[in-house]
Amino acid sequence: MTPRRPLFVANWKMNGLHADGIARASALAGHTAGGDCGGDIVVCPPATLLFALRAVFAGSAIALGGQDCHAAAEGAHTGDVSGPMLVDAGCTHVIVGHSERRAGHGEGNEEVAAKAAAAHAAGLAAIVCVGESAAERNAGRALAVIGRQVEGSLPASATPDNTAIAYEPVWAIGTGRTPGPADIEAAHAQVRVGWERRFSGGGEALRVLYGGSVTARNAGGMLAVPGVDGVLVGGASLSADAFWQICQAHR
Ligand code: PGA
Repeated sequence: MTPRRPLFVANWKMNGLHADGIARASALAGHTAGGDCGGDIVVCPPATLLFALRAVFAGSAIALGGQDCHAAAEGAHTGDVSGPMLVDAGCTHVIVGHSERRAGHGEGNEEVAAKAAAAHAAGLAAIVCVGESAAERNAGRALAVIGRQVEGSLPASATPDNTAIAYEPVWAIGTGRTPGPADIEAAHAQVRVGWERRFSGGGEALRVLYGGSVTARNAGGMLAVPGVDGVLVGGASLSADAFWQICQAHR
């Protein structure tokens, strides 16, 4: 099997006004101009910064992504952004099913699958997030929850080319707490089991990312875990230097 190329995703969440967003993006583009990190890089800024960052990243190795998209292409959905709008703004990727959307906006697996399908229909690659809560882990249900989320959140249109799955334990996001290598390995294996169940095979090229309190210090350890094909980074991606160190940590 050809090795899977690592994927590094920066999720800026609801952080960044125009000036600091441009400054951070420019610094990161400067880093990538100085050398190839050996992986794919996607930056997902707030929607307000997409058009501006498209110009900053033009001609660079950095791809642009949205943080969410609506299941519909257009219509009466106040406050939402659609797949075609993200493409129009220069995106090639979009995150769907992030736990902050699942918990904060009541999104379930079915809606996440519909959003991923809409992303695919628009020509975007979907980064589908799954992950158990602390209560689910403590109850010994982490792997069952992960498997169910993967099976339920993937639309029929998903292929390893247009989809990556991010395993992000809810209790590790923004907390500084991370699972141990054995738990990450087991969770990533379970993501693959979920994919195989959903599609009866064909998932060898699928990239499975780890997310949750990834830093420049711990990224190397995460990326060395078998089955970890990249990382989805929140807080640490707000520093161009830290995120660039993370992008190089697999070497
Ligand atoms: P964190 O967030 O790196 O700040 O924990 C990760 C994420 O939510 O994608």
